[in-house]
Amino acid sequence: MAILVTGGAGYLGSHTCVELLNAGYKIVIVDNFSNSKPESLKRIKNITGKDFNFYNIDILNKDSLREVFSENNIDAVIHFAGLKAVGESVEAPLKYYHNNITGTIILCEVMEEFNVNRIVFSSSATVYGVPETVPILEDSTLYATNPYGRTKLMAEEIFKDMYKSNPNWSIALLRYFNPIGAHESGEIGEDPNGIPNNLMPYITQVGVGKLNELMVFGNDYATSDGTGVRDYIHVVDLALGHLKALEKVMQEPGVEAYNLGTGKGYSVLEMVSAFEKAFGGNIPYKIVERRAGDIGECYADPTKAKQQLDWFATRGIDEMCKDSWRWQSKNPNGYAKDLKLV
Ligand code: NAD
Ligand code: UFG
Repeated sequence: MAILVTGGAGYLGSHTCVELLNAGYKIVIVDNFSNSKPESLKRIKNITGKDFNFYNIDILNKDSLREVFSENNIDAVIHFAGLKAVGESVEAPLKYYHNNITGTIILCEVMEEFNVNRIVFSSSATVYGVPETVPILEDSTLYATNPYGRTKLMAEEIFKDMYKSNPNWSIALLRYFNPIGAHESGEIGEDPNGIPNNLMPYITQVGVGKLNELMVFGNDYATSDGTGVRDYIHVVDLALGHLKALEKVMQEPGVEAYNLGTGKGYSVLEMVSAFEKAFGGNIPYKIVERRAGDIGECYADPTKAKQQLDWFATRGIDEMCKDSWRWQSKNPNGYAKDLKLV
């Protein structure tokens, strides 16, 4: 019996694969490297000392996916494969709907063909749109403000319909808040293409000297210091949440959404200070205009995951910053380790 991990070479997938292997699961990874590098797979093996089957395929290719299911005894799927850049999704909505929605449908069709009906899906706190209140509960109003967010919302709806039509399905919809940090080895971590869109990789690239200064997007939000507040969660805690969700979908059918967050919000300036402590230097920044589409404050109520999955985050902000910095400083160019600093 094996767990299929789609998008397992990516940031969240690679960390989850490490935890799955450490916990003794047999895994099979599929990835098309559209946003990752083969090097991450080597490092998963180095960290764990364990091997796995890997298929360099696109989940849109149904025949290739069928081969994966016929060559391996798949018991459940953790589905990370997807495109995730909000700005790009506004520029290229069809690319996002095709990859994220059609990809998910094809995966589920093949699962049905092979009688595999347990899946853990990567959703996002983006399905809460502009939250009405914080902390955010799973039964809050759902809506999305951009095509990327709509792919997550639509996928959730599709999963709910699948369960209605066939109560053998067992589905966990994991709504991630803001994953940061890296494995404590510093061997795997987040490796964005080009200039990072997200706060932590931007800060670490300022730390390593690839970028000059952080732009803080607005200081006029209704928050303690006026800068945006988010629920940052250590990627290893997030990975462990997948193991708990997997146990749940193995136990009983159903479809449930869970917030994976810490329940605590930090502002951009608090993150800068926390990182400076881990880094041991200054991160220059300047306040600029708000970023279009940003919200002021977003953090989880993670009680449901604690009650139903027996999962909660244990790693704090200092550990998140320390581990992000270890990864970035050991790998200034991410997985492209042979290149000079650019
Ligand atoms: P990532 O880009 O690092 O990983 C996604 C992986 O999927 C990549 O390795 C990519 O090559 C692969 N992939 C994409 N489309 C594919 C396809 N059609 N066929 C095969 N492989 C494909 O992203 P991540 O940060 O690890 O995110 C994983 C999932 O979690 C995504 O679905 C993302 O939308 C979701 N998510 C991420 C965050 C975050 O902040 N990182 C927040 C909420 C939700
Ligand atoms: N920020 C800056 N400067 C930067 C980058 C970010 O000030 O260079 C600020 C943002 O304005 C925000 C905070 O830092 O206040 C966090 O921004 P991120 O881009 O790191 O994260 P977001 O919360 O905006 O978005 C993330 C994912 C989305 C996902 C969303 C909800 O990138 O895909 O969380 O889960 F939809």
